[in-house]
Amino acid sequence: MSVVKTIDPTAIPQPDLHGYLLTAVAPRPICFASTIDSDGNVNLSPFSFFNVFSSNPPIMIFSPARSGRDNSLKHSHQNVKEVPEVVINIVDFPMVEQMSLSSTAYEKGVNEFIKSGLTEVPSKKVRPPRVAEAPVSFECTVTEIIELADTPGAGNLIFAKVEFIHINSAFLDGAGKLDPKKMDLVGRMGGSWYTRASGDSLFEIPKPIRTKGIGVDRLPEGIRNSEVLTGNNLGRLGNMEQLPTNGEVEEISKDDEIRMLSKKLKNNPEKLKKELHWVAQQVLNENNTAKALAILMYAEQLS
Ligand SMILES: Cc1cc2nc3c(=O)[nH]c(=O)nc-3n(C[C@H](O)[C@H](O)[C@H](O)COP(=O)(O)O)c2cc1C
Repeated sequence: MSVVKTIDPTAIPQPDLHGYLLTAVAPRPICFASTIDSDGNVNLSPFSFFNVFSSNPPIMIFSPARSGRDNSLKHSHQNVKEVPEVVINIVDFPMVEQMSLSSTAYEKGVNEFIKSGLTEVPSKKVRPPRVAEAPVSFECTVTEIIELADTPGAGNLIFAKVEFIHINSAFLDGAGKLDPKKMDLVGRMGGSWYTRASGDSLFEIPKPIRTKGIGVDRLPEGIRNSEVLTGNNLGRLGNMEQLPTNGEVEEISKDDEIRMLSKKLKNNPEKLKKELHWVAQQVLNENNTAKALAILMYAEQLS
């Protein structure tokens, strides 16, 4: 068993707490917020305390915190209090360095579009411009602001209702839907770390939304306590709607590979069972969950 460190957040210095929270709650999407003050000065700043919270109504929330150093309010926060509008631009890998540059603490009134070299495009409904380079931009009106406290580091929740969506068509698939494989999005980790959602880091899990999986608890003990199968393997198996029938298990015993293995190890049932678990794991990795479960149930019958 690994040793667990338990922390009382009130008993550690604020910067340490900040570090634990931001390194653990990761990766976080990045809201690249374009705002404007009442004099018309444009601001562009990134915020990773951000997510979408509702699609009907379409609401996103981001949180410019009070400065940990001098407790001041971020310019983006001040701006949305003056002009309750924001364009939330999504950040991808080709613009990540310019996004980072725009997080510099420039004086109020400095336009970070100009500082970062990114391109302003006028919005349709709101006054702040959008970022031309962003794969997706959301024109939003600010419906509510919740200021959590007046202490350094306190968050301020900016509720943004989506009014228009702009999508670079290079990121659409044939059906007009956004394609995550084309997007190359980035996420913020703790400290100065980022992550990139592309290539091998993207993977699919069949969603158990319409079907009701039997659950890991319904798998026989010999499968649950396997020395071979991982937690991910068990999660995938528990997604099956039912255990295989006796007929299906009988059928799998006639499979060439299973038959040969059973013959080879007929005098060593423990080894055979373990080998069958390895085979089932390989079959699971090929996304054939029903066959894997049938192999595992066959292995159960041997003991
Ligand atoms: C990727 C990234 C994410 C950030 N997320 C936040 C955040 O969620 N909240 C925050 O207060 N500051 C965050 N910052 C720091 C702000 O971007 C920085 O304080 C910026 O200067 C604020 O600009 P403003 O005062 O013009 O609004 C982040 C910086 C980067 C690079």
